[in-house]
Amino acid sequence: MAPDRDGDRSTVTTPAQSNWTPSSWREYGASQMPDWPDDQALKESTAELSGYPPLVFAGEARTLTRELASVSRGEAFLLQAGDCAESFSEFSADDIRDKLKVILQMAVVLTYGAGLPVVKIGRIAGQFAKPRSSMTELVGGVEMPSFRGHIINDDAPIPSARIPDPTRMLRAYNQSAATLNLLRAFTKGGFADLSQVHAWNQQFVAQSAEGRRYEAIAGEIDRALAFMRACGIDLRAEATIQQVEFFTSHEALLLDYEEALTRRDSLTNDWYDCSAHLLWIGERTRQLDGAHVNFLAGVKNPVGVKLGPTTTEDELLALCERLNPERIPGRLTLTTRLGVDRVTTLLPSLVRCVTDAGHPVVWQCDPMHGNTFSTEDGRKTRHFDDVLGEIRGFFGVHREEGTWPGGVHVELTGDNVTECLGGVEQILEADLPLRYTTTCDPRLNALQSIDLAFRVAELLRT
Ligand code: PEP
Ligand code: CO
Repeated sequence: MAPDRDGDRSTVTTPAQSNWTPSSWREYGASQMPDWPDDQALKESTAELSGYPPLVFAGEARTLTRELASVSRGEAFLLQAGDCAESFSEFSADDIRDKLKVILQMAVVLTYGAGLPVVKIGRIAGQFAKPRSSMTELVGGVEMPSFRGHIINDDAPIPSARIPDPTRMLRAYNQSAATLNLLRAFTKGGFADLSQVHAWNQQFVAQSAEGRRYEAIAGEIDRALAFMRACGIDLRAEATIQQVEFFTSHEALLLDYEEALTRRDSLTNDWYDCSAHLLWIGERTRQLDGAHVNFLAGVKNPVGVKLGPTTTEDELLALCERLNPERIPGRLTLTTRLGVDRVTTLLPSLVRCVTDAGHPVVWQCDPMHGNTFSTEDGRKTRHFDDVLGEIRGFFGVHREEGTWPGGVHVELTGDNVTECLGGVEQILEADLPLRYTTTCDPRLNALQSIDLAFRVAELLRT
């Protein structure tokens, strides 16, 4: 994790911030928020949260803004990845380690492919709240309130489990704190050692027929490491090779939680949402006059916005103005999730209008959320080929437009799940029930994720 190594006092307070407070969002329409049944219980939980220590520090968020500024200039690539929804029940050191391991493996491959640094951000340590398309869902023929993520209610298929419970925010905070603690230890304590991560990738290459396609790239990375050793660089002593910077992010959906963790930075006097380094606004809550946009407009963290196929140029320009009026490079990441069939037709005009307006953004492709469909037995899934196809379309459009395809945003897990179709093991629809454990959207498993990284590395090299 990034140390607080800046004393950057030059950040000016924006006009929007001068009368903005962490609770200003309450004057705006807030979609997707739970109907808390007990006001007093909600007040008690948020008051308690407000007294807890921040999970991340303002200086770390500023470091991430600077790194994302490099991405916006085409000098780095962004990998953001993790669970669709973190779970209270799937919470263990092994789970966290395996997820981090896959992300690090992907990052090494991408670093080599891009020939550039890779900024690594987990959807982790706070990614609990989920937007839902419907207030209710049918479970085994019984209609009940929708599951909204473990920070709000439980996924058990009984109506009483679905009642929003504000004490869950305290549990989410504690799980996030423990997760961050382990991530900080893993990324600074030797687990992220480059030679070791590369050795894991070599295992992937050796073990599967599909992996052997990547023998050439893996061999090149091997030779690069040997070259460094031959030059006298002690790979075991070099901090840049032993340690990585790893940032956290989640969708800023549950504003009661985000408000309670928003603090004024003593150095700059600016507000920071200290629940994660980067927060994003989802496709369902990006209304210009909505509470979520108001909330993220006022914090100084780097922020993201998801953009689905209905996004208009006017909406997009207004969002850029609202979220980044000072046009600070690295402040705003635009995450398109248009679907494999529509990316090449819809993306060019979005890219053009932002470029013409001179907004310095990071363009990122989320190839997951525009490619979800349900199987006949009602299971949500995605096909590996569609995921790859949307990324390929995204790269193609940016190449045409002369802009930098800055990064990817994927849902994955370190486990050997069977949630997305295709990929190295050719997962079929009939295989999905074998290990389908997600509490929300289908995730790429470890092998599919590493395979995807090799394919994106190939795209970056051509
Ligand atoms: C998500 O990232 O899990 C999500 C719900 O995405 P979107 O807002 O793009 O639908
Ligand atoms: Co999702």
